[in-house]
Amino acid sequence: AEVEQAVSTGSLPGRERVGALVLDAYERAKAATGGTVAGYIPALAGADPELFGVSVAGVDGRVHAAGDAAVPFTIQSVSKAFVYALVCEALGHRAVAERVGVDNTGLAFDSVIAIELNGGSPMNPMVNAGAIATTALVPGSGPAGRWEAIRAGLSAFAGRPLALDEEVYDSEAATNRRNQAIARLLQSHGRLDADPPAAVDLYTRQCALLVSARDLAVMGATLADGGTNPVTGRRVVSPEVCRDTLAVLAANGMYQRSGEWLFEIGLPAKSGVSGGIVAVAPGKGAIGTFAPRLDAAGNSVRGRHAVAHLSRTLGLNLF
Ligand code: DON
Repeated sequence: AEVEQAVSTGSLPGRERVGALVLDAYERAKAATGGTVAGYIPALAGADPELFGVSVAGVDGRVHAAGDAAVPFTIQSVSKAFVYALVCEALGHRAVAERVGVDNTGLAFDSVIAIELNGGSPMNPMVNAGAIATTALVPGSGPAGRWEAIRAGLSAFAGRPLALDEEVYDSEAATNRRNQAIARLLQSHGRLDADPPAAVDLYTRQCALLVSARDLAVMGATLADGGTNPVTGRRVVSPEVCRDTLAVLAANGMYQRSGEWLFEIGLPAKSGVSGGIVAVAPGKGAIGTFAPRLDAAGNSVRGRHAVAHLSRTLGLNLF
């Protein structure tokens, strides 16, 4: 049935209404077929293609969930949004933008030719090249200190301690030759000061942190709330960093499909290859979804349906 577009207001509707709309979006998007589970990371290839969870967290700290919203999965590229925020918080608006860039490549997330076509620039923090370059900027004492800064920072966004999936980390670390090549290429262009294998290792670890759809909703709601986690009340990053992060997500979060996503759905968002999506409605809250079947750009098929539906029914489209 045609979905009515809700009128956009300053906040989410009341508790019962949001709960009913989350369930409605879950049930409708569950019918979406198509897409395939990512196969290039061996430990991800065996994911259950039918898992599906949807969660909405408001800036009022209320969290709604439907389906497999508590099932853990590795965060993968969704981590790029939050590590970028942490690095902006540490180094400021200008430094990261000058080093990494903010513009879309128009090419796939693991593109090598995008680097060559742009004079060695990683282009933006949401593709693998830019994310490796961003992770290399995380402050901390030694590899262990930098890893702890990332783990603790992403945990603060989620409002609970996040753990590493050792199996997925090992699996990706043993097979990520393309990311190793990207890091070496950046180094050859003078765009990576850190040791390339160490930068890729840290990036691979951040991608293997375990989250749920509910966690993604709370993490996104922290960006929607100007950097304060609405569940724990703890400040994680500044409002200025949230603005920078959401702008970068709007332009790049859904890779080469970011323009189409913004046109159809109207929210800054980030996807990951394990099937997660976080979509942020500034000042209102965020949607977290998990469904492993992906489209050709690497974006979750059911997740996209659920976010599109909720953007309409909750009146979230920014434009
Ligand atoms: O570096 C990689 O290829 C993975 N750790 C993450 C890629 C990813 O999530 C792309 N998203 N669709």
